[in-house]
Amino acid sequence: MSAVRIIQTTPFDGQKPGTSGLRKKVKTFAQPHYLENFVQAIFDSIGEVGGKVLVLGGDGRFHNRTACQTILKMAAANGFARVMVGRGGILSTPAASCVIRKYRTFGGIILSASHNPGGPDEDFGIKYNIPAGGPAPEAVTEAIFARSKAITEYRIQDAADIDLDRLGTQQLGPMAVEVFDPVADYAALMQTLFDFDAIRAAFKAGFGMKFDAMHAVTGPYAKAILEDMLDAPAGTVMNGTPLEDFGHGHPDPNLVHAHELVEALFGPDAPDFGAASDGDGDRNMILGKNFYVTPSDSLAVLAANATLCPGYAGGLKGIARSMPTSAAPDRVAAALGIPAFETPTGWKFFGTLLDAGKATLCGEESFGTGSDHVREKDGLWAVLMWLNVLAVRKEPVADIVRAHWAKYGRNVYSRHDYEGIDSAAANGLMDHLRGLDLKGKALGAYKVAFNDDFAYTDPVDGSISTQQGIRIVFEDGSRVVFRLSGTGTEGATLRVYIEQFEPDVTKHHLDPQEALADLIKIARDVAQIEARTGRAEPTVIT
Ligand code: G6P
Ligand code: ZN
Repeated sequence: MSAVRIIQTTPFDGQKPGTSGLRKKVKTFAQPHYLENFVQAIFDSIGEVGGKVLVLGGDGRFHNRTACQTILKMAAANGFARVMVGRGGILSTPAASCVIRKYRTFGGIILSASHNPGGPDEDFGIKYNIPAGGPAPEAVTEAIFARSKAITEYRIQDAADIDLDRLGTQQLGPMAVEVFDPVADYAALMQTLFDFDAIRAAFKAGFGMKFDAMHAVTGPYAKAILEDMLDAPAGTVMNGTPLEDFGHGHPDPNLVHAHELVEALFGPDAPDFGAASDGDGDRNMILGKNFYVTPSDSLAVLAANATLCPGYAGGLKGIARSMPTSAAPDRVAAALGIPAFETPTGWKFFGTLLDAGKATLCGEESFGTGSDHVREKDGLWAVLMWLNVLAVRKEPVADIVRAHWAKYGRNVYSRHDYEGIDSAAANGLMDHLRGLDLKGKALGAYKVAFNDDFAYTDPVDGSISTQQGIRIVFEDGSRVVFRLSGTGTEGATLRVYIEQFEPDVTKHHLDPQEALADLIKIARDVAQIEARTGRAEPTVIT
Protein backbone atom coordinates (compact mmCIF):
# COMPACT_ATOMS: atom_id res chain seq x y z
CA MET A 1 0.00 0.00 0.00
CA SER A 2 1.41 3.32 -0.83
CA ALA A 3 0.12 6.46 0.80
CA VAL A 4 0.57 10.18 0.51
CA ARG A 5 2.60 11.73 3.24
CA ILE A 6 2.16 15.39 4.09
CA ILE A 7 5.43 16.75 5.42
CA GLN A 8 5.61 19.94 7.47
CA THR A 9 8.32 22.32 6.31
CA THR A 10 9.52 25.90 6.57
CA PRO A 11 10.70 28.15 3.72
CA PHE A 12 14.33 28.40 2.62
CA ASP A 13 15.77 31.77 1.71
CA GLY A 14 16.75 32.47 -1.86
CA GLN A 15 14.70 29.97 -3.88
CA LYS A 16 14.45 32.60 -6.58
CA PRO A 17 14.81 31.20 -10.09
CA GLY A 18 17.51 33.03 -12.11
CA THR A 19 17.93 33.41 -15.87
CA SER A 20 17.20 29.74 -16.29
CA GLY A 21 15.74 28.14 -13.19
CA LEU A 22 17.01 27.63 -9.66
CA ARG A 23 20.72 26.83 -9.55
CA LYS A 24 22.61 26.06 -6.36
CA LYS A 25 25.32 23.76 -5.12
CA VAL A 26 24.40 20.08 -4.83
CA LYS A 27 24.96 20.38 -1.08
CA THR A 28 22.24 23.03 -0.93
CA PHE A 29 19.81 20.93 -2.94
CA ALA A 30 20.59 17.81 -0.92
CA GLN A 31 19.51 19.38 2.38
CA PRO A 32 16.33 17.83 3.73
CA HIS A 33 13.22 19.51 2.26
CA TYR A 34 15.16 21.90 -0.03
CA LEU A 35 14.29 20.34 -3.39
CA GLU A 36 10.89 19.26 -2.06
CA ASN A 37 9.95 22.81 -1.06
CA PHE A 38 10.82 24.14 -4.49
CA VAL A 39 9.01 21.36 -6.35
CA GLN A 40 5.90 21.86 -4.22
CA ALA A 41 6.14 25.60 -4.92
CA ILE A 42 6.14 24.78 -8.65
CA PHE A 43 3.14 22.45 -8.36
CA ASP A 44 1.26 25.04 -6.25
CA SER A 45 1.94 27.83 -8.74
CA ILE A 46 1.20 26.42 -12.18
CA GLY A 47 -2.52 25.76 -11.88
CA GLU A 48 -4.50 22.57 -11.37
CA VAL A 49 -2.16 19.63 -11.83
CA GLY A 50 -4.72 16.89 -11.11
CA GLY A 51 -4.98 14.42 -13.98
CA LYS A 52 -2.23 16.14 -15.98
CA VAL A 53 0.89 14.76 -17.67
CA LEU A 54 4.37 16.04 -16.82
CA VAL A 55 7.71 15.55 -18.60
CA LEU A 56 10.80 14.96 -16.46
CA GLY A 57 14.50 14.51 -17.09
CA GLY A 58 17.88 16.12 -16.78
CA ASP A 59 21.43 16.36 -17.99
CA GLY A 60 22.65 13.37 -15.99
CA ARG A 61 24.75 15.33 -13.54
CA PHE A 62 25.33 14.23 -9.95
CA HIS A 63 22.05 14.19 -7.97
CA ASN A 64 19.98 13.84 -11.17
CA ARG A 65 18.65 10.37 -10.38
CA THR A 66 17.97 11.12 -6.72
CA ALA A 67 16.06 14.26 -7.64
CA CYS A 68 14.06 12.38 -10.31
CA GLN A 69 12.89 9.85 -7.72
CA THR A 70 11.80 12.60 -5.32
CA ILE A 71 9.99 14.57 -8.02
CA LEU A 72 8.19 11.45 -9.29
CA LYS A 73 6.89 10.69 -5.79
CA MET A 74 5.81 14.29 -5.32
CA ALA A 75 4.09 14.39 -8.71
CA ALA A 76 2.14 11.27 -7.73
CA ALA A 77 1.14 12.76 -4.38
CA ASN A 78 0.04 15.99 -6.05
CA GLY A 79 -2.31 14.21 -8.43
CA PHE A 80 -0.53 14.07 -11.78
CA ALA A 81 -1.93 11.25 -13.87
CA ARG A 82 1.34 10.42 -15.58
CA VAL A 83 4.96 11.49 -15.76
CA MET A 84 7.05 10.84 -18.84
CA VAL A 85 10.65 10.48 -17.71
CA GLY A 86 13.65 10.06 -20.01
CA ARG A 87 15.45 6.71 -19.60
CA GLY A 88 18.16 6.98 -16.95
CA GLY A 89 16.69 10.34 -15.99
CA ILE A 90 18.29 11.71 -19.16
CA LEU A 91 16.62 14.37 -21.28
CA SER A 92 18.32 17.28 -22.97
CA THR A 93 16.70 20.67 -22.60
CA PRO A 94 15.72 20.95 -26.29
CA ALA A 95 14.46 17.36 -26.32
CA ALA A 96 12.33 18.14 -23.26
CA SER A 97 10.86 21.08 -25.14
CA CYS A 98 10.21 18.82 -28.14
CA VAL A 99 8.47 16.16 -26.05
CA ILE A 100 6.37 18.66 -24.07
CA ARG A 101 5.08 20.11 -27.34
CA LYS A 102 4.62 16.83 -29.18
CA TYR A 103 2.60 15.17 -26.43
CA ARG A 104 0.93 18.42 -25.29
CA THR A 105 1.85 17.84 -21.67
CA PHE A 106 1.36 20.19 -18.77
CA GLY A 107 4.94 21.35 -19.17
CA GLY A 108 7.99 19.65 -17.75
CA ILE A 109 10.69 19.77 -15.13
CA ILE A 110 14.28 19.82 -16.34
CA LEU A 111 17.14 19.08 -13.97
CA SER A 112 20.27 20.88 -15.02
CA ALA A 113 22.70 23.60 -14.16
CA SER A 114 23.45 23.83 -17.88
CA HIS A 115 27.14 24.48 -18.48
CA ASN A 116 28.14 24.70 -14.82
CA PRO A 117 30.34 21.85 -13.50
CA GLY A 118 28.72 18.82 -11.87
CA GLY A 119 29.65 16.58 -8.94
CA PRO A 120 29.05 16.38 -5.18
CA ASP A 121 30.69 19.77 -4.61
CA GLU A 122 29.42 21.39 -7.77
CA ASP A 123 26.16 22.70 -9.16
CA PHE A 124 22.64 21.38 -9.58
CA GLY A 125 19.58 23.07 -10.98
CA ILE A 126 15.89 22.71 -11.67
CA LYS A 127 13.54 24.59 -13.96
CA TYR A 128 9.94 24.32 -14.99
CA ASN A 129 9.03 24.65 -18.67
CA ILE A 130 5.50 25.68 -19.61
CA PRO A 131 3.13 23.69 -21.88
CA ALA A 132 4.34 25.68 -24.92
CA GLY A 133 7.70 23.99 -24.25
CA GLY A 134 9.73 27.02 -23.26
CA PRO A 135 11.19 28.36 -20.04
CA ALA A 136 8.64 29.75 -17.62
CA PRO A 137 8.10 33.48 -18.10
CA GLU A 138 8.82 35.86 -15.24
CA ALA A 139 5.21 35.92 -14.02
CA VAL A 140 5.44 32.16 -13.40
CA THR A 141 8.90 32.16 -11.83
CA GLU A 142 7.86 35.06 -9.58
CA ALA A 143 4.80 33.10 -8.48
CA ILE A 144 6.99 30.07 -7.73
CA PHE A 145 9.38 32.23 -5.73
CA ALA A 146 6.51 33.85 -3.80
CA ARG A 147 5.10 30.41 -3.01
CA SER A 148 8.51 29.13 -1.87
CA LYS A 149 8.56 31.90 0.73
CA ALA A 150 5.20 30.92 2.18
CA ILE A 151 5.37 27.14 2.02
CA THR A 152 4.34 25.15 5.10
CA GLU A 153 4.02 21.59 3.79
CA TYR A 154 4.63 19.37 0.81
CA ARG A 155 3.11 16.11 -0.45
CA ILE A 156 5.09 13.00 -1.29
CA GLN A 157 4.05 9.47 -2.11
CA ASP A 158 5.33 6.75 0.16
CA ALA A 159 6.49 4.33 -2.51
CA ALA A 160 9.46 2.39 -3.81
CA ASP A 161 11.83 3.98 -6.33
CA ILE A 162 11.07 3.66 -10.02
CA ASP A 163 13.50 1.72 -12.23
CA LEU A 164 14.60 4.62 -14.41
CA ASP A 165 16.52 2.36 -16.78
CA ARG A 166 13.56 0.16 -17.78
CA LEU A 167 11.60 1.45 -20.78
CA GLY A 168 7.84 1.27 -20.44
CA THR A 169 5.18 2.06 -17.89
CA GLN A 170 5.46 1.48 -14.14
CA GLN A 171 3.04 2.41 -11.41
CA LEU A 172 3.86 4.82 -8.61
CA GLY A 173 0.87 4.87 -6.26
CA PRO A 174 -2.03 6.10 -8.37
CA MET A 175 0.26 7.63 -11.02
CA ALA A 176 1.76 6.06 -14.14
CA VAL A 177 5.44 6.62 -14.85
CA GLU A 178 6.44 6.15 -18.46
CA VAL A 179 10.17 5.70 -18.98
CA PHE A 180 10.80 6.65 -22.61
CA ASP A 181 13.71 6.82 -25.05
CA PRO A 182 14.95 10.41 -24.68
CA VAL A 183 16.41 10.50 -28.21
CA ALA A 184 13.71 9.12 -30.52
CA ASP A 185 11.19 11.99 -30.70
CA TYR A 186 13.94 14.56 -30.95
CA ALA A 187 15.75 12.71 -33.73
CA ALA A 188 12.50 12.33 -35.64
CA LEU A 189 11.93 16.09 -35.43
CA MET A 190 15.44 16.80 -36.74
CA GLN A 191 14.74 14.55 -39.70
CA THR A 192 11.81 16.72 -40.72
CA LEU A 193 13.96 19.88 -40.72
CA PHE A 194 17.20 18.90 -42.40
CA ASP A 195 18.36 17.15 -45.54
CA PHE A 196 19.69 13.95 -43.99
CA ASP A 197 20.43 12.48 -47.44
CA ALA A 198 22.69 15.40 -48.36
CA ILE A 199 24.51 15.24 -45.02
CA ARG A 200 24.91 11.45 -45.30
CA ALA A 201 26.34 11.89 -48.80
CA ALA A 202 28.83 14.47 -47.49
CA PHE A 203 30.10 12.08 -44.79
CA LYS A 204 30.31 9.33 -47.38
CA ALA A 205 32.43 11.60 -49.57
CA GLY A 206 34.89 12.07 -46.72
CA PHE A 207 33.65 15.20 -44.97
CA GLY A 208 35.33 15.17 -41.57
CA MET A 209 33.77 16.25 -38.32
CA LYS A 210 34.32 16.18 -34.56
CA PHE A 211 31.48 16.71 -32.11
CA ASP A 212 32.44 17.19 -28.48
CA ALA A 213 29.61 16.17 -26.15
CA MET A 214 31.83 17.11 -23.20
CA HIS A 215 30.64 14.02 -21.25
CA ALA A 216 27.27 15.68 -20.96
CA VAL A 217 23.76 15.00 -22.18
CA THR A 218 24.22 15.31 -25.95
CA GLY A 219 26.41 12.20 -26.19
CA PRO A 220 23.54 9.75 -26.81
CA TYR A 221 21.76 12.21 -29.10
CA ALA A 222 24.84 12.94 -31.18
CA LYS A 223 25.82 9.29 -31.48
CA ALA A 224 22.32 8.30 -32.58
CA ILE A 225 21.90 11.12 -35.07
CA LEU A 226 25.41 11.70 -36.41
CA GLU A 227 26.93 8.23 -36.26
CA ASP A 228 23.88 5.94 -36.57
CA MET A 229 21.47 7.91 -38.76
CA LEU A 230 23.89 10.04 -40.79
CA ASP A 231 26.68 7.46 -41.05
CA ALA A 232 29.42 9.73 -39.73
CA PRO A 233 32.43 7.56 -38.89
CA ALA A 234 32.55 6.05 -35.41
CA GLY A 235 34.56 8.38 -33.20
CA THR A 236 33.05 11.51 -34.72
CA VAL A 237 31.44 12.05 -31.31
CA MET A 238 34.04 12.72 -28.63
CA ASN A 239 33.38 12.42 -24.89
CA GLY A 240 30.02 10.89 -25.75
CA THR A 241 29.15 9.15 -22.49
CA PRO A 242 27.28 11.34 -19.98
CA LEU A 243 29.13 11.32 -16.66
CA GLU A 244 27.87 12.66 -13.33
CA ASP A 245 30.82 15.03 -13.05
CA PHE A 246 31.29 15.51 -16.81
CA GLY A 247 34.70 13.87 -16.42
CA HIS A 248 35.81 16.71 -14.14
CA GLY A 249 35.12 19.02 -17.05
CA HIS A 250 33.27 22.25 -17.36
CA PRO A 251 30.66 21.47 -20.04
CA ASP A 252 30.56 24.92 -21.57
CA PRO A 253 31.17 24.92 -25.32
CA ASN A 254 33.54 27.84 -25.69
CA LEU A 255 37.16 28.27 -26.71
CA VAL A 256 38.38 27.85 -23.15
CA HIS A 257 36.39 24.89 -21.88
CA ALA A 258 36.05 22.88 -25.10
CA HIS A 259 39.84 22.92 -25.46
CA GLU A 260 40.11 19.30 -26.63
CA LEU A 261 37.92 20.11 -29.61
CA VAL A 262 39.68 23.42 -30.20
CA GLU A 263 43.05 21.66 -30.27
CA ALA A 264 41.70 19.18 -32.84
CA LEU A 265 40.26 21.89 -35.08
CA PHE A 266 43.33 24.09 -34.88
CA GLY A 267 45.78 21.17 -35.12
CA PRO A 268 47.64 19.71 -38.07
CA ASP A 269 45.00 17.14 -39.04
CA ALA A 270 42.01 19.35 -38.45
CA PRO A 271 38.72 17.99 -39.78
CA ASP A 272 36.39 20.18 -41.84
CA PHE A 273 33.97 20.95 -39.07
CA GLY A 274 33.86 20.94 -35.28
CA ALA A 275 31.08 21.53 -32.81
CA ALA A 276 30.37 21.17 -29.13
CA SER A 277 27.36 21.37 -26.87
CA ASP A 278 26.91 22.04 -23.18
CA GLY A 279 25.69 20.17 -20.10
CA ASP A 280 22.01 20.08 -21.05
CA GLY A 281 22.39 20.28 -24.82
CA ASP A 282 21.01 23.71 -25.56
CA ARG A 283 24.25 25.57 -26.32
CA ASN A 284 26.55 25.12 -29.30
CA MET A 285 29.94 26.20 -30.51
CA ILE A 286 30.79 26.04 -34.21
CA LEU A 287 34.33 25.68 -35.56
CA GLY A 288 35.76 25.26 -39.02
CA LYS A 289 39.24 24.09 -39.91
CA ASN A 290 41.41 26.62 -38.06
CA PHE A 291 38.40 28.86 -37.72
CA TYR A 292 36.07 29.98 -34.91
CA VAL A 293 32.55 31.15 -35.70
CA THR A 294 31.18 33.56 -33.10
CA PRO A 295 27.63 32.72 -32.00
CA SER A 296 26.42 36.05 -33.39
CA ASP A 297 27.95 35.31 -36.81
CA SER A 298 26.64 31.75 -36.66
CA LEU A 299 23.07 33.02 -36.32
CA ALA A 300 23.60 35.48 -39.17
CA VAL A 301 25.10 32.85 -41.48
CA LEU A 302 22.39 30.30 -40.70
CA ALA A 303 19.71 32.91 -41.34
CA ALA A 304 21.26 33.89 -44.67
CA ASN A 305 21.42 30.21 -45.73
CA ALA A 306 18.26 28.92 -44.08
CA THR A 307 16.38 28.19 -47.29
CA LEU A 308 18.95 25.49 -48.12
CA CYS A 309 17.35 23.43 -45.34
CA PRO A 310 14.01 21.71 -46.07
CA GLY A 311 12.42 22.88 -42.80
CA TYR A 312 13.12 26.52 -43.66
CA ALA A 313 12.83 26.39 -47.46
CA GLY A 314 9.79 28.67 -47.33
CA GLY A 315 11.85 31.48 -45.81
CA LEU A 316 12.00 33.10 -42.40
CA LYS A 317 9.36 35.23 -40.70
CA GLY A 318 11.84 37.21 -38.66
CA ILE A 319 15.08 36.96 -36.72
CA ALA A 320 15.41 37.65 -33.01
CA ARG A 321 18.58 38.18 -31.00
CA SER A 322 19.36 39.21 -27.46
CA MET A 323 20.57 42.76 -26.95
CA PRO A 324 24.23 41.90 -26.22
CA THR A 325 24.39 39.71 -29.36
CA SER A 326 26.04 41.47 -32.30
CA ALA A 327 23.90 43.16 -34.93
CA ALA A 328 25.16 40.80 -37.67
CA PRO A 329 21.78 38.99 -37.83
CA ASP A 330 19.98 42.35 -38.20
CA ARG A 331 21.87 42.95 -41.43
CA VAL A 332 20.63 39.66 -42.83
CA ALA A 333 17.08 40.48 -41.74
CA ALA A 334 17.31 43.84 -43.49
CA ALA A 335 18.57 42.21 -46.68
CA LEU A 336 15.76 39.63 -46.54
CA GLY A 337 13.19 42.32 -45.80
CA ILE A 338 12.04 40.60 -42.60
CA PRO A 339 11.82 42.02 -39.07
CA ALA A 340 14.69 41.86 -36.60
CA PHE A 341 13.96 41.79 -32.86
CA GLU A 342 16.24 42.76 -29.99
CA THR A 343 15.27 41.18 -26.67
CA PRO A 344 16.82 41.05 -23.20
CA THR A 345 19.19 38.20 -22.37
CA GLY A 346 17.37 34.93 -21.70
CA TRP A 347 15.77 32.50 -24.10
CA LYS A 348 12.37 32.98 -22.47
CA PHE A 349 12.07 36.36 -24.18
CA PHE A 350 11.93 34.66 -27.59
CA GLY A 351 8.91 32.54 -26.62
CA THR A 352 6.22 35.13 -27.32
CA LEU A 353 7.79 36.05 -30.68
CA LEU A 354 7.96 32.41 -31.74
CA ASP A 355 4.43 31.65 -30.52
CA ALA A 356 3.08 34.68 -32.37
CA GLY A 357 4.84 33.67 -35.60
CA LYS A 358 6.91 36.85 -35.65
CA ALA A 359 10.32 35.17 -35.65
CA THR A 360 11.63 31.87 -37.03
CA LEU A 361 15.29 31.94 -35.97
CA CYS A 362 16.67 33.22 -32.66
CA GLY A 363 20.09 33.42 -31.16
CA GLU A 364 22.27 34.75 -28.42
CA GLU A 365 25.94 35.55 -28.07
CA SER A 366 26.01 33.08 -25.17
CA PHE A 367 26.30 30.17 -27.63
CA GLY A 368 22.56 29.75 -28.07
CA THR A 369 20.85 29.29 -31.42
CA GLY A 370 17.41 27.93 -32.20
CA SER A 371 14.20 28.21 -34.12
CA ASP A 372 10.47 27.81 -33.84
CA HIS A 373 10.82 23.98 -33.92
CA VAL A 374 10.98 23.98 -30.11
CA ARG A 375 10.95 26.69 -27.45
CA GLU A 376 14.50 26.30 -26.20
CA LYS A 377 17.80 26.96 -27.81
CA ASP A 378 19.09 23.80 -29.38
CA GLY A 379 22.73 22.81 -29.68
CA LEU A 380 22.45 19.79 -31.96
CA TRP A 381 19.87 21.53 -34.12
CA ALA A 382 22.42 24.29 -34.82
CA VAL A 383 25.06 21.69 -35.64
CA LEU A 384 22.70 19.90 -38.03
CA MET A 385 21.72 23.17 -39.68
CA TRP A 386 25.38 23.96 -40.26
CA LEU A 387 25.93 20.43 -41.58
CA ASN A 388 23.01 20.88 -43.97
CA VAL A 389 24.41 24.19 -45.24
CA LEU A 390 27.91 22.75 -45.58
CA ALA A 391 26.64 19.63 -47.35
CA VAL A 392 24.80 21.74 -49.91
CA ARG A 393 27.36 24.53 -50.41
CA LYS A 394 30.39 22.22 -50.29
CA GLU A 395 32.65 25.09 -49.19
CA PRO A 396 34.81 25.33 -46.07
CA VAL A 397 33.29 26.98 -43.00
CA ALA A 398 35.85 29.82 -43.12
CA ASP A 399 35.06 30.61 -46.76
CA ILE A 400 31.33 30.73 -46.06
CA VAL A 401 31.79 33.11 -43.13
CA ARG A 402 34.28 35.34 -44.99
CA ALA A 403 31.97 35.55 -47.98
CA HIS A 404 29.19 36.47 -45.57
CA TRP A 405 31.30 39.32 -44.13
CA ALA A 406 32.22 40.51 -47.62
CA LYS A 407 28.56 40.74 -48.50
CA TYR A 408 27.11 42.17 -45.27
CA GLY A 409 30.14 43.71 -43.56
CA ARG A 410 31.65 42.27 -40.39
CA ASN A 411 30.36 42.99 -36.91
CA VAL A 412 33.65 42.45 -35.12
CA TYR A 413 32.75 41.16 -31.69
CA SER A 414 34.16 39.89 -28.44
CA ARG A 415 32.94 39.17 -24.92
CA HIS A 416 35.13 39.58 -21.86
CA ASP A 417 34.04 37.87 -18.65
CA TYR A 418 35.26 38.69 -15.17
CA GLU A 419 34.16 35.66 -13.17
CA GLY A 420 33.79 35.24 -9.44
CA ILE A 421 34.16 38.88 -8.51
CA ASP A 422 32.78 40.34 -5.30
CA SER A 423 29.02 40.93 -5.61
CA ALA A 424 29.06 44.30 -3.88
CA ALA A 425 31.88 45.51 -6.14
CA ALA A 426 29.99 44.27 -9.20
CA ASN A 427 26.80 46.04 -8.18
CA GLY A 428 28.79 49.18 -7.40
CA LEU A 429 30.30 49.09 -10.87
CA MET A 430 26.89 48.76 -12.49
CA ASP A 431 25.49 51.62 -10.35
CA HIS A 432 28.44 53.75 -11.37
CA LEU A 433 27.74 53.08 -15.07
CA ARG A 434 24.03 53.68 -14.60
CA GLY A 435 24.80 57.11 -13.15
CA LEU A 436 26.88 58.30 -16.12
CA ASP A 437 25.56 60.72 -18.70
CA LEU A 438 27.86 60.31 -21.67
CA LYS A 439 25.75 61.51 -24.57
CA GLY A 440 27.81 63.70 -26.91
CA LYS A 441 31.04 63.07 -24.97
CA ALA A 442 34.21 61.67 -26.48
CA LEU A 443 35.72 58.45 -25.16
CA GLY A 444 39.07 58.06 -26.88
CA ALA A 445 38.44 58.55 -30.57
CA TYR A 446 34.77 57.57 -30.20
CA LYS A 447 31.87 59.93 -29.66
CA VAL A 448 28.96 58.63 -27.58
CA ALA A 449 25.59 58.66 -29.36
CA PHE A 450 23.74 57.53 -26.25
CA ASN A 451 24.07 55.42 -23.13
CA ASP A 452 21.24 53.72 -21.30
CA ASP A 453 20.14 50.73 -19.28
CA PHE A 454 18.35 48.50 -21.79
CA ALA A 455 14.60 48.15 -21.23
CA TYR A 456 12.27 46.01 -23.29
CA THR A 457 8.58 46.01 -23.93
CA ASP A 458 7.47 42.67 -25.30
CA PRO A 459 5.71 43.43 -28.61
CA VAL A 460 3.32 40.52 -28.10
CA ASP A 461 2.21 40.59 -24.47
CA GLY A 462 3.30 44.11 -23.54
CA SER A 463 5.31 43.01 -20.50
CA ILE A 464 8.14 45.33 -19.55
CA SER A 465 11.64 44.30 -18.43
CA THR A 466 14.02 46.96 -17.17
CA GLN A 467 17.72 47.06 -16.17
CA GLN A 468 18.74 44.50 -18.78
CA GLY A 469 22.27 45.79 -19.40
CA ILE A 470 24.15 49.07 -19.73
CA ARG A 471 24.77 50.14 -23.31
CA ILE A 472 27.22 52.78 -24.44
CA VAL A 473 26.58 53.25 -28.15
CA PHE A 474 28.92 55.37 -30.25
CA GLU A 475 28.09 57.50 -33.24
CA ASP A 476 29.61 55.03 -35.73
CA GLY A 477 27.39 52.25 -34.34
CA SER A 478 30.15 50.63 -32.27
CA ARG A 479 29.17 49.83 -28.71
CA VAL A 480 30.16 48.40 -25.39
CA VAL A 481 27.64 46.64 -23.18
CA PHE A 482 27.90 45.67 -19.52
CA ARG A 483 25.81 43.05 -17.73
CA LEU A 484 26.01 40.95 -14.63
CA SER A 485 25.49 37.26 -15.31
CA GLY A 486 22.22 35.79 -14.13
CA THR A 487 23.40 32.20 -14.16
CA GLY A 488 26.33 32.01 -11.75
CA THR A 489 26.17 30.38 -8.34
CA GLU A 490 29.11 32.10 -6.62
CA GLY A 491 29.91 35.80 -6.39
CA ALA A 492 29.21 37.83 -9.50
CA THR A 493 30.33 37.65 -13.10
CA LEU A 494 30.69 40.84 -15.07
CA ARG A 495 30.26 40.48 -18.82
CA VAL A 496 31.56 43.13 -21.16
CA TYR A 497 30.48 42.90 -24.80
CA ILE A 498 32.43 44.85 -27.39
CA GLU A 499 31.31 45.36 -30.97
CA GLN A 500 32.40 47.37 -33.97
CA PHE A 501 31.07 47.30 -37.49
CA GLU A 502 33.76 46.88 -40.16
CA PRO A 503 32.61 47.31 -43.75
CA ASP A 504 36.19 47.22 -45.13
CA VAL A 505 36.91 43.73 -46.40
CA THR A 506 40.68 44.27 -46.21
CA LYS A 507 40.34 44.45 -42.43
CA HIS A 508 38.13 41.41 -41.96
CA HIS A 509 41.04 39.09 -41.25
CA LEU A 510 42.12 40.99 -38.14
CA ASP A 511 41.99 39.29 -34.75
CA PRO A 512 39.01 40.83 -32.92
CA GLN A 513 41.16 41.51 -29.83
CA GLU A 514 43.39 43.64 -32.04
CA ALA A 515 40.62 45.27 -34.03
CA LEU A 516 38.71 46.09 -30.86
CA ALA A 517 41.70 47.11 -28.73
CA ASP A 518 40.66 50.78 -28.41
CA LEU A 519 37.10 49.93 -27.48
CA ILE A 520 38.27 47.32 -24.99
CA LYS A 521 40.39 49.93 -23.24
CA ILE A 522 37.52 52.42 -23.25
CA ALA A 523 35.23 49.83 -21.68
CA ARG A 524 37.72 49.04 -18.92
CA ASP A 525 38.35 52.69 -18.17
CA VAL A 526 34.78 53.92 -18.21
CA ALA A 527 33.62 51.10 -15.92
CA GLN A 528 36.71 51.39 -13.68
CA ILE A 529 36.96 47.62 -13.82
CA GLU A 530 40.38 47.19 -12.25
CA ALA A 531 39.87 49.77 -9.52
CA ARG A 532 36.49 48.33 -8.56
CA THR A 533 37.07 44.58 -8.96
CA GLY A 534 40.82 44.23 -8.58
CA ARG A 535 40.93 42.44 -11.93
CA ALA A 536 43.28 43.71 -14.62
CA GLU A 537 42.29 41.03 -17.12
CA PRO A 538 39.14 39.03 -17.84
CA THR A 539 38.98 35.35 -16.88
CA VAL A 540 37.39 34.23 -20.15
CA ILE A 541 37.45 35.86 -23.57
CA THR A 542 35.15 34.59 -26.30
C1 G6P B 1 21.09 30.85 -19.97
C2 G6P B 1 19.90 31.16 -20.78
C3 G6P B 1 20.31 31.97 -21.98
C4 G6P B 1 21.05 33.20 -21.56
C5 G6P B 1 22.17 32.86 -20.65
C6 G6P B 1 22.72 34.12 -20.07
O1 G6P B 1 21.96 30.05 -20.69
O2 G6P B 1 19.27 30.00 -21.21
O3 G6P B 1 19.19 32.29 -22.73
O4 G6P B 1 21.58 33.87 -22.67
O5 G6P B 1 21.72 32.05 -19.61
O6 G6P B 1 23.64 33.81 -19.12
P1 G6P B 1 24.25 34.91 -18.22
O7 G6P B 1 25.20 34.15 -17.36
O8 G6P B 1 24.96 35.87 -19.16
O9 G6P B 1 23.12 35.58 -17.48
ZN1 ZN C 1 22.52 24.88 -21.28
